Amino acid sequence: MSWNSHETLEKNSILLLIAIILVVLVGGIVEIIPLFRKETVIEPVEGVRPYTPLELAGYNIYIREGCYNCHSQQIRPLRDEVVRYGHYSLAAESMYDHPFQWGSKRTGPDLSRVGGKYSDAWQTAHLVEPRDLVPESIMPSYGFLLHKGAKLHDLDKHLKTLRLVGVPYTDEMIENAEKDAMAQATGEERTDIGGLQDRYGESVNARDFDGQENMISEMDALVAYLQVLGTMVDFETVEGAK
Ligand code: HEC
Repeated sequence: MSWNSHETLEKNSILLLIAIILVVLVGGIVEIIPLFRKETVIEPVEGVRPYTPLELAGYNIYIREGCYNCHSQQIRPLRDEVVRYGHYSLAAESMYDHPFQWGSKRTGPDLSRVGGKYSDAWQTAHLVEPRDLVPESIMPSYGFLLHKGAKLHDLDKHLKTLRLVGVPYTDEMIENAEKDAMAQATGEERTDIGGLQDRYGESVNARDFDGQENMISEMDALVAYLQVLGTMVDFETVEGAK
């Protein structure tokens, strides 16, 4: 070929620019478009379920209070992180978080596996006054959460909205959202714990989280949320998760 196409491109910057844009565009489309389909990037892992209504209320409080400004929820696959926090985070573990809480700053420790690490009483006391338990802590106090009733009556709308973006809440879960939240926050048989467990699994924590029997507070919701973090996947049994 006497006409050297490459030379033409290299000597004409506008033409080169157009060619570069075309190539990057095609490459970008091929790489990015498939990622919009969640099922092609997230491998489902046994045990991961949508949050219960009470846990979701806690998740909303976590966001409202800006806990993510100081806490990440993503354990990277590096030795020091895995030794400190546990198994590195799997994509599936945050697939129902909208928005995800991976975070970008760790003033405090990562919280993605904090569920079950401490008792409810510890979590409550720590949120009320972190320095009572960790004298050098710079975490703010959140004692007011004990005195604020958790807003449960509109949880069905939260579930419904999340369903729009792909969280598999069923009609039954949506209808029973408020009831399920009450059952989980009290742990009392008369509140239909059975129904809650049918919908979200036997291992759902249902009890009075904040130690105030007469009230379902925002503290109940937040502690219920903290106590489920990182506990859905059983890494002893799940194959392929290692
Ligand atoms: C200004 C930064 C800051 C904010 C905001 C903050 N924390 Fe913390 N948090 C810390 C620090 C620092 C520690 C470590 C010292 C301690 O345990 O108090 C900590 C520790 C914790 C721990 C114990 C973790 C462990 O594994 O020992 C939990 C649970 C926790 N925070 C939850 C929360 C929640 C929930 C919120 C929001 C309501 C929140 N934090 C807001 C800084 C913060």
